[in-house]
Amino acid sequence: MENMYVPAPDRYAHATFRRCGGFGLVLPPISLGLWQNFGGADVFETGRAMIRRAFDRGVTHFDLANNYGPPYGSAEENFGVILRKDFGLRKHVRGLRNELVISTKAGWDMWPGPYGIGGSRKYLLASLDDSLKRMGLDYIDIFYSHRPWNNCPLEETMGALVTAVFQGKALYVGVSSYGPEQTRQAAQILKQMGAPLLIHQPSYSMLNRWIERGLLDVLAEIGAGCIAFSPLAQGLLTRKYLNGVPENSRAKLPNSSMLQEFLSEENLRRVRALNEIARGRGQTLAQMAIAWVLRDSRITSALIGARNVAQLDDSLDAVKNLDFTEAELKEIDRYAEEGGVDLWKETREYMN
Ligand SMILES: NC(=O)c1ccc[n+]([C@@H]2O[C@H](COP(=O)([O-])OP(=O)(O)OC[C@H]3O[C@@H](n4cnc5c(N)ncnc54)[C@H](OP(=O)(O)O)[C@@H]3O)[C@@H](O)[C@H]2O)c1
Repeated sequence: MENMYVPAPDRYAHATFRRCGGFGLVLPPISLGLWQNFGGADVFETGRAMIRRAFDRGVTHFDLANNYGPPYGSAEENFGVILRKDFGLRKHVRGLRNELVISTKAGWDMWPGPYGIGGSRKYLLASLDDSLKRMGLDYIDIFYSHRPWNNCPLEETMGALVTAVFQGKALYVGVSSYGPEQTRQAAQILKQMGAPLLIHQPSYSMLNRWIERGLLDVLAEIGAGCIAFSPLAQGLLTRKYLNGVPENSRAKLPNSSMLQEFLSEENLRRVRALNEIARGRGQTLAQMAIAWVLRDSRITSALIGARNVAQLDDSLDAVKNLDFTEAELKEIDRYAEEGGVDLWKETREYMN
């Protein structure tokens, strides 16, 4: 007999939420992403336990993409199973669906051939239909263009997002890893077409500050929110790598997204110094890294990943201390310069 999930009745008692730019939609300060550790190659029950725990602790937003896995699509499939088993979703039965903000994306490679990657209307709308099927949903809350794409007019990509909204398959639209100028143009087009830009999803952490050079200003100007992904720099901004590379780590995976150069002696020196600052604040380094991202009110949510419930619990406790003194921020800036941990730099610059 499967263990029944009964969501914590007090899940909203201490939960706080932040408004997404000028929109009415609010998001939790920390959201959970299913990029890694939730795929078909991972232990299903571990992922399921994390989703349950997150929801019990006031995390209402879960972020996916068509190709999260591995294999591609399997994170959405697993999430769909969890929605049915634990959140009570069935055909014509909404269960806890109304309490969730679910996002997905298309843009990176999904299936072979020219219609399985990029920004075309053909790819985006076919992919969204597939995502909805895999998750067993009739709509998602936020549909993203996952990356800028050179060989497609911005009007076509934005038009596909708008169509998704008009078809009732998405409530809001977002873009990810677009540069400041592309974002401004995308927002203009979306506004004209009648489905304004809700949110941008960029990478951002103490060691990766590109959004401070223009993008945050643009988002404030156009009234869009910002959900910052990889605030832990994929695990580098935790105590995980302080004494070597543990077996159970992203860095040890074959074809890891956590490149060896992230773990340079220079970066580890920074991480050790940051760890001391976190200790002085009575926080773990992971907690300080998340709190640091949230120190800017323009950041709607920090989008984290986790390997297990213990990591998730540690990270969610970041909200217990979100305040920084000027002296702490200065001290952090002394050590946390750009650490070359931005995997998406080339993607952003691709369109320029
Ligand atoms: N739009 C895009 O192009 C894009 C790109 C990347 C990510 N994202 C989104 O952002 C989400 C988060 O990305 P991410 O997983 O790179 O974020 P992250 O939070 O920077 O890194 C998560 C990793 O850090 C380690 N970790 C997490 N909490 C920890 C803790 N408390 N103590 C020690 N280690 C801890 C774990 O590494 P180990 O597994 O090694 O233990 C975990 O897998 C994704 O799931 C996805 O939704 C979007």
